[in-house]
Amino acid sequence: MPEQPGRFYVTTPIYYVNDAPHAGHAYATVTADALARWHRLLGDDVFFLTGTDEHGLKVQRSADAAGRTPQQQADVHAAHFADAWRLLDVSNDDFIRTSEARHHAAVQALLQKVYDRGYIYADDYSGLYCVACEEYYTADELDENPDADGLGLCPIHHRPVESFSERNWFFRLSEFAEPLAEHYRDHPEAVQPEGKRNETLGLIRQGLRDISISRSSIDWGVPIPWDPSQVFYVWYDALINYATAIGYGTDRTRFDAWWPNVHHVIGKDILRFHCVYWPALLMAAGEAPPAHVHVHGFLLVGGEKMSKSGLTQITPAELVDEFGVDGVRHHLLHDLSFGPDGDFSEESMIARYNADLANNLGNLLSRVATVLAKKSGGIGTAPRPDSPLAAVAGEVVAQATAAWEAVTPSVALDATWRLIREANALLEATEPWKADPGAEVDAVLGDALEVLRIVAVLASPAVPDAAQEIWRRIGCDGSVADRRVPVDTIWGAYVPGRPVLTGDPLFPRIKASGP
Ligand code: MSP
Repeated sequence: MPEQPGRFYVTTPIYYVNDAPHAGHAYATVTADALARWHRLLGDDVFFLTGTDEHGLKVQRSADAAGRTPQQQADVHAAHFADAWRLLDVSNDDFIRTSEARHHAAVQALLQKVYDRGYIYADDYSGLYCVACEEYYTADELDENPDADGLGLCPIHHRPVESFSERNWFFRLSEFAEPLAEHYRDHPEAVQPEGKRNETLGLIRQGLRDISISRSSIDWGVPIPWDPSQVFYVWYDALINYATAIGYGTDRTRFDAWWPNVHHVIGKDILRFHCVYWPALLMAAGEAPPAHVHVHGFLLVGGEKMSKSGLTQITPAELVDEFGVDGVRHHLLHDLSFGPDGDFSEESMIARYNADLANNLGNLLSRVATVLAKKSGGIGTAPRPDSPLAAVAGEVVAQATAAWEAVTPSVALDATWRLIREANALLEATEPWKADPGAEVDAVLGDALEVLRIVAVLASPAVPDAAQEIWRRIGCDGSVADRRVPVDTIWGAYVPGRPVLTGDPLFPRIKASGP
């Protein structure tokens, strides 16, 4: 099935339920949400999936430590993730939990198919395992600093690994090195940014070993249909969530409609699973590999990855308390480029919030409404067809569209904010607040209203509440989310003659919490 224009299936990683969400998780989810919202503006059919990864040793151990059953532990934390996404205005169409019956059925159907096609066999295995990663490592992949037993540490979590030895079921990953290399040669767009594609090719070139896909030592997982004494390895169960949610094993038509249009948003630490293991598994089941994987970097606090285990964890709720929902979303999307790691600090959040939201966007709205109230009776005036801002708006819409398409939200928002800055510059140059009421003042204010209308549409994927409030205050009807790009971003569509409302500052300035 080829990719179909007009359909967009976007996924986040599904989050482990060993703990509550932090801002690093919010980063991936808000990015996927903004992409979903942008594609809805384009008029695409969108399906946006997020959820929780509930099986495996890590969750089982965290449940033991909390004195809960794994299912209770999953119920508690799955609710925390769902609450966090609701708080952040995340517009997911489905929330999948891997402990659900629908997911068990899909995992069993897909892996049974792989077994029937001869890609799974039994063997003995002993190896080094990091429970935090839920991944096996070879000794040479570990960090050089040895632990007390003389073994290196996990390269991601810098914690000791454990030695495991079991009779397991193995997936013939080694048979897929060439098909994967060919796939990535033919589809350079499949992994982005380009550096991550190269990293993927490097992993494949190093050679692929068959991989253990079952566990006999735990029972918190999806039972293997042909050997119920074992459960599937959590990663092989988890990856299949992307297929479960669109009907794999139960609704072939639905699966075929969405699968060719999939866009996985993932962090760089789970590249190997999404760009090597997952496409190979799909090929083994006779399905197409994922069409697009978009790989982002980490939010760093003081140079370290923000993590559940570290002391650097900041919850979405704490951020929303200080910056509001749109303040948090805007920061994650605008301040951090998609791809590289980015520093995350309260100071940079305050600076970005005050500059972009309180000063640029908030000021433009309040100035226009205040001056209109004084000089034009509070009624919206018409933009000029030949305004100097018309050409800027045309360029900005084109740049923002290209940037959302390329999954670079910070670039899209840079473009959008250029239009806001230019409108503020026009107001400062013409100073309508000092001029006598008349055609000149009406024209400049009409131009600024038109900028606010276009910006409300363009910024709505990032700051949905603020965009709707701007839309309402400048006298536009309905929901800004129902507008369409490009038709509703063409210069000149602002309808004059309606009341423009003044109100509380959209984004009150935040003072630095100094000593
Ligand atoms: N359960 C697996 C994913 C299975 S997907 C089939 C998992 N879960 S996780 O909860 O540990 O991480 C989920 C995502 O959050 C990953 O993409 C990871 O990169 C991301 N992040 C965790 N900490 C992060 C930061 N500090 N910064 C940005 N993203 C980070 O892995």
